[in-house]
Amino acid sequence: MNLHILIVFSILVASSYANTIEFDYCVADPALPHGPTGYACKDPAKATSDDFAYSGLRTPGNTSNIFKFGASLGLVAQFPALNGLGISIVRGDMDVGGAVPLHTHRVSELIVIVEGTIIAGFIDTNNTAFYKTLEKGDLFVIPPTLEHFQVNVGKIPSVLYASFSSPNPGVQIISNSLFQSDLPTEIIQKITLLDPAQIKKLKRVFGGTN
Ligand SMILES: *[C@@H]1O[C@H](CO)[C@@H](O)[C@H](O)[C@H]1NC(C)=O
Ligand SMILES: *[C@@H]1O[C@H](CO)[C@@H](O)[C@H](O)[C@H]1NC(C)=O
Repeated sequence: MNLHILIVFSILVASSYANTIEFDYCVADPALPHGPTGYACKDPAKATSDDFAYSGLRTPGNTSNIFKFGASLGLVAQFPALNGLGISIVRGDMDVGGAVPLHTHRVSELIVIVEGTIIAGFIDTNNTAFYKTLEKGDLFVIPPTLEHFQVNVGKIPSVLYASFSSPNPGVQIISNSLFQSDLPTEIIQKITLLDPAQIKKLKRVFGGTN
């Protein structure tokens, strides 16, 4: 490792969003260590125009699943130039009658509807539900960490783009966390008051055990 690379590497392993003060950009090098503040940068002198473009969202998400929902991801893992920039984007496709199941992220989310009619909503920590029917061109914002969802209530498949205030917003889907895990049915019953037969049924659907 030559001195120049070593210096870039050392600075960027300790990088934060503040790395934009030291550099114009910090295209992730996934081969270098990944820490709480993101990835280390590839050598800025080696960045190319291709690093700053990503075509993966031309492809719709795969909706062949129980929710009739599919996502195409434009997060730092797919689009390394997002590293350190505090932003990312996902394309969400819903078939007619489809839904984005109740889920959370670590950060804020702003969605724009580009096709169809959907209901988007979230539930705040006071258990107040906010939801709205949205048409093509409309925006909806979801504050960080709150449980939220979308439902296609139109007569055609819907498309939306969801942007995030992090290159790696994380996602936790409530149904999957409960029913795809090996958390025992007795515990889930205690902590949700759901009927054990319903829990076992959903564990079979989602692939959970116990
Ligand atoms: C979509 O997902 C289904 C179910 O996992 C799978 O069988 C199918 O091959 C996928 N289609 C595409 C185009 O990837
Ligand atoms: C919390 O919800 C209750 C109704 O359940 C409402 O009366 C109250 O104004 C809400 N508080 C806030 C801060 O939104």
